[in-house]
Amino acid sequence: MSYISLKTILFLLLTLTVTACYYDSEEELYPGTWGGNCDTANITFSGTIQPILASNCNSCHNASMANGGVITDNYNSLIVHVNRGVFGKAVNHQLGAVPMPQNSPKLPQCELLKINAWINAGAPNN
Ligand code: HEC
Repeated sequence: MSYISLKTILFLLLTLTVTACYYDSEEELYPGTWGGNCDTANITFSGTIQPILASNCNSCHNASMANGGVITDNYNSLIVHVNRGVFGKAVNHQLGAVPMPQNSPKLPQCELLKINAWINAGAPNN
């Protein structure tokens, strides 16, 4: 009886160990996709967020072409949509907003992690 229990415990420990190792290697293999090696420290609007918006959003969201009434190429226009929650929902493809970028897959996982970290920090203009 006690022999079976010990075997069960060892089996569970082994399973947990193998699972943990597998998860680690998955992160190593696909760092960008899984956000594994994504550095979300020291995020700034000018250094981190603005370049992402410039590459993916500003062509459709500027003063001369403000699709959906949204402008993403300057902080004061953007923050309005951050504060009403629609910016975060749109980029994360959540209910309550049209998914962005329009007709494209989600932004890469690491860019989303950075955007979400910036929003969670109160979306500072830094
Ligand atoms: C190819 C053009 C295009 C690109 C690129 C694009 N958008 Fe949009 N966006 C639109 C259009 C068109 C709408 C209006 C959609 C509607 O109302 O049906 C819109 C709407 C929005 C809205 C309002 C959504 C809502 O539900 O009210 C937000 C926020 C937004 N875009 C943010 C972004 C961000 C952030 C990016 C970059 C990650 C981006 N967009 C990239 C065309 C684009």
